[in-house]
Amino acid sequence: MKKINIGLVGFGTIGTGVVRALKERNSLLTKRSGMQLVLKRICDKDITQRKTVNVDRSILTKNIDDILNDKEIDIVIELVGGIHPAKEIISEALKKGKHVVTANKALLAECGLELFRLSNSQKRDIYFEASVGGGIPIIRSLKEGLVSNKFAAIYGIVNGTSNFILTQMSQQGISFKDALRDAQKRGFAEKKPTLDIEGFDSAHKLIVLAQIAFGKFVKLSDIFVEGISRISLDDIKYATELGLVIKLLAIAKKQKDELELRVHPTMISKQHLLASVDGAFNAIHLSTDMVGDLLLYGPGAGQNPTASAVISDVVSLAEKVNSSSMFVPFNFEQTGGRIRRLRKIDQISTRFYIRFMAIDKPGVLAKISGVLGKYNISIASVSQKERRRAKIVPVVIVTHEAKERAMRLALERLNKLAIVRESVAIRMEET
Ligand code: HSE
Repeated sequence: MKKINIGLVGFGTIGTGVVRALKERNSLLTKRSGMQLVLKRICDKDITQRKTVNVDRSILTKNIDDILNDKEIDIVIELVGGIHPAKEIISEALKKGKHVVTANKALLAECGLELFRLSNSQKRDIYFEASVGGGIPIIRSLKEGLVSNKFAAIYGIVNGTSNFILTQMSQQGISFKDALRDAQKRGFAEKKPTLDIEGFDSAHKLIVLAQIAFGKFVKLSDIFVEGISRISLDDIKYATELGLVIKLLAIAKKQKDELELRVHPTMISKQHLLASVDGAFNAIHLSTDMVGDLLLYGPGAGQNPTASAVISDVVSLAEKVNSSSMFVPFNFEQTGGRIRRLRKIDQISTRFYIRFMAIDKPGVLAKISGVLGKYNISIASVSQKERRRAKIVPVVIVTHEAKERAMRLALERLNKLAIVRESVAIRMEET
């Protein structure tokens, strides 16, 4: 039986899950793959034994060269995270003829094109199932299960931390701050939560999805990113009254030869499939030309789900190591149809939910609607809520489809009026 040697870099939470699964499920994996998967080396800065899994001390090392220079190692799993030294480790591994498995969405988002070109020139592959959606086999679905499809749109809840916070706010009636604190206590949010709550983690994952689905490598700066830190309990409550739910969505839409990519809090109908994706769960809704609409749902993080995704990549690559046929890379570049340009956020139109905190006196609504009218923004519904503070009332307006640029200019104008004390605008999607 063919033996496949694996080197693991990064023995943290996910690494520990991978080691345990390779150990405890070895005979299952051997039966299913027809190969023997051998964890030959583990490299980490800290090589003290993890309590939850026992490994032979002789395979632990602090020196990355023990993996990179080991000619017998066929596959390197990179679970270090971040850009450096993960990028150098992956590049070196490819140059030394090893296939690579990574969960590193930030690195793929920033350096994906460069790394995939290197992997092609080295005739080795990079697999990255765990980079998006944790245990959900989304990458494999896009690359293999849906290989004959063209994609029209992707709507993803791909950040468990933000989804957990929004769910807690809406179900427990607690503020963003309290929900974040609760998430941190329960281990759903990092001590430094910016990457998750400000939408950047979702944007990294959107970049990875766009690479495969649309064959377009984009930069973070090409994507409009807005997080959830300004979402208030009031807006969640008013959304509920309108039959809507607020979710942090990563959105990719292709219209003719234009692609739009954005991440922002979005109001969707509570009937929408994504509306019931609660807690730390992730889901990706795809619109394709052959299958139509489909939804992939599951845990987007966690030790076992993510380790499951990593091991699926190891098995796929082990088959490549074992195969005598020629190396054929998956061709990402420009395989999603021609994309002439990326749409800037100003060129996008959506419906909007807007909430103003306005002075409660005659003529105020007329003034607000007058400014919206001037910018060609058509109102679909208006409701004035109960007074919260003396003389200040929340006014909630839902618009018909409006141009982003027009909305931005209208809000700038409205915010200068003495009658408007605060304004919040949340985009809506009807998918
Ligand atoms: N921090 C991510 C999340 C999990 O909250 O979904 C890993 O991608």
